[in-house]
Amino acid sequence: MKQTLYTESEIKGVVAELAAAIAADFAGRKLLLLGLLKGCQPFLADLCRELSRYSLSLAVEYLQVSSYCGTASSGKVTFDCGLPEGLGQGCEVIVVDDIFDTGLTLQSVVSRLYENGAAKVKTCVLLRKEASHRVVLEPDYCGAVIPDVFIVGYGLDYNEQYRELPYIRALAADEQR
Ligand code: IMP
Ligand code: MG
Repeated sequence: MKQTLYTESEIKGVVAELAAAIAADFAGRKLLLLGLLKGCQPFLADLCRELSRYSLSLAVEYLQVSSYCGTASSGKVTFDCGLPEGLGQGCEVIVVDDIFDTGLTLQSVVSRLYENGAAKVKTCVLLRKEASHRVVLEPDYCGAVIPDVFIVGYGLDYNEQYRELPYIRALAADEQR
C-alpha cells in the first residue's frame, strides 16, 4: 500500500489558498504566470482556475527547464528553450513550479528574468522540502512544507513516470530503478 502525502481534495485546498494570497497582492494588476515545465502543469492549470474567481488580468507562459536525474538534483539547471518573446516587459511575473528543493531551479530562472530586463519577479511553489536548500532565495508563495523525501504525482515525476497521479505520494524504494 503506497502512502498518500496529499489527497486530491487537500491539494485543491492548498491551491485555493495560494490563489487567494496571490489575488490579494495583485488585485487589479496585470500579472504573468510563468510555469516551469513539465512539472508545473496540473498545478498551474488549477491555480489559473482558482485565480479566475478574482479580478486580475492574467497571462500564462511556459519555460522548460530541467535539473533532476532520477531522485537527485544534478546541481545544474538546463534551459531547454529560450525565454518567451518580450517577457517581463510591462507586467509583473510570478514563476510557478511544483516543488522547491535545492532552490537552484528557481534561482536560475529568476536571475535569467532579471538579466532579461524584468522589473519584478516573484515565485510560487506548491511544495517545498524542509531540508535541502542551497540558495538564498525563498519562494514568495508556498503551499506547504514536506519532509525531505522524493515524491511523485500531480505533475511530479520519477524519470517521466507518475505525473498523471491526481494525488501526491512518496516514491517507494522498490519503485526506484
Ligand atoms: P531544485 O532546483 O533542487 O529546487 O529542484 C526543483 C525541481 O526538481 C522541480 O522543478 C522538480 O522538477 C524537481 N524535483 C525536486 N524534488 C522533486 C521530487 O521530490 N519529485 C519530483 N521532482 C522533484
Ligand atoms: Mg521541474
